[in-house]
Amino acid sequence: AEVIIVKNEEEAGQIYGRAVADLIKTKPDAVLGLATGSSPLAAYQALAKIVHDESIDVSQVRGFALDEYLGLPLDHPQSYHSTIHRTVVEPLGLDPAKVHVPGDVLDGAPLEDGEKIAEAGPAYDAAIEAAGGIDVQILGIGTDGHIGFNEPGSSLASGTRVKTLAEQTRIDNARFFENDIDKVPTHCITQGIGTVLKARHLVLLAFGSGKAEAIEETVEGGVSAFCPASALQLHPHATIIVDEEAASRLR
Ligand code: F6R
Repeated sequence: AEVIIVKNEEEAGQIYGRAVADLIKTKPDAVLGLATGSSPLAAYQALAKIVHDESIDVSQVRGFALDEYLGLPLDHPQSYHSTIHRTVVEPLGLDPAKVHVPGDVLDGAPLEDGEKIAEAGPAYDAAIEAAGGIDVQILGIGTDGHIGFNEPGSSLASGTRVKTLAEQTRIDNARFFENDIDKVPTHCITQGIGTVLKARHLVLLAFGSGKAEAIEETVEGGVSAFCPASALQLHPHATIIVDEEAASRLR
């Protein structure tokens, strides 16, 4: 992977924004892979500014999110459906009908509906494939090296599937649910590592010293399911954009 060290999130966002804006100019129906979390926010803002400043037509742009909680109504403010619409679809002015989140295919089905749960992942992967695949997938990284909700131990070949959330992730995310762990969903649906690797270009963003160890493992460790992001080493076009702090353990 190519590693780019930047001053701050704004500079990283500018690199992503410029690359994606130029892509949309040459391919108006570009397919964007989208992530939630704090890392991509400056990148979405930079892209939105370029889109508006240069009056780029984004009416045909398509999007697929990485992951979603299960068991939340789609319109719950913490659902990734709501989050992606708030942070990407609205600021960019995308057509909401062209932006998909993995939980959408479950359509509110209860967790007990085993058949629907089993079909949801493959249906999402099929929808990505039918769209011609993802052009640029933006990624954040967990302090344990997770990408999407693929926690350490996830198969590097995995497709989109329903998973149980790791206890630590539920504790970490309780801050979004009134600090009440009982309100945090127990399950999620996430693109697999194999799904992510099919995107034509991967852009992973990481900022702050809390990510330094995960970035070291990702870039200089062996490829291993113990650090899901290390799978980026297998990808022919992966760009890792980090600030000095996140890069501090790189040789
Ligand atoms: C988001 C996602 C997660 C985050 C990761 C980093 O859709 O799937 O893997 O990218 O947890 O989160 P932040 O960017 O908030 O540090």
